[in-house]
Amino acid sequence: MAEFAKDFHLSDTTGHDWWHVFRVWNLSKHIAKQENADCLVVELAALLHDMDDHKIPGADAINFPNARKTMLNLSADSSLVERVVEVISQVSFKGAGVDTTPTSLEACVVQDADRLDAIGAIGVARAFAYGGSKNRELYNPEVKPTLHASFEEYKNSKGNTLNHFYEKLLLLKDMLNTDTARKIAEQRNDYMQQFVEQFLEEWNMRDVEHR
Ligand code: ADP
Ligand code: NI
Repeated sequence: MAEFAKDFHLSDTTGHDWWHVFRVWNLSKHIAKQENADCLVVELAALLHDMDDHKIPGADAINFPNARKTMLNLSADSSLVERVVEVISQVSFKGAGVDTTPTSLEACVVQDADRLDAIGAIGVARAFAYGGSKNRELYNPEVKPTLHASFEEYKNSKGNTLNHFYEKLLLLKDMLNTDTARKIAEQRNDYMQQFVEQFLEEWNMRDVEHR
């Protein structure tokens, strides 16, 4: 399955490259072990979780055709396919005001792993890589962050990348499901918070004035 996922994501520029999937797979395995989740379901869902993301051209986040096709090609039985699709359908962040609480331990694990990879130093790098691919400004002090109340609003937002930290990334640590992930998130979140503070210090030349 990892080989299939690797081929699928190899040339992605939407923040869903293979190495993101690889890191989420490894984080998922770690959390699943600590939390006693079903490792087979967790690993498959982690490997397939972004194949039907709304940002991937031709993907469909209602029926999950790419994830289904990949599992059926490897002769997974249909009850396993349904369990994995159920998990994948609960992973994605849909806006600050949209409830995405998972209904199974396995979905809790993969959602946490995906969110851990969106924060910290890697989270900072991914956000600016994504913003760059969409020609977004790094920051624009005239545009205030919005806490999106619906998935439509969140998907269609064209804000600058620094706003994404307030609209999603800095909120994630309080939206995690497992103690294992909450512990890992502490340092990653502190680092990201510090990055945003330093960015604004430099933007406003406060670091210059203090010398
Ligand atoms: P994930 O794969 O973690 O579910 P998304 O599909 O929401 O995340 O987005 C992929 C990556 O791109 C993430 O690191 C996310 O934070 C980043 N990203 C998504 N939307 C934006 C945005 N508007 N500005 C900057 N980065 C974004
Ligand atoms: Ni992801």
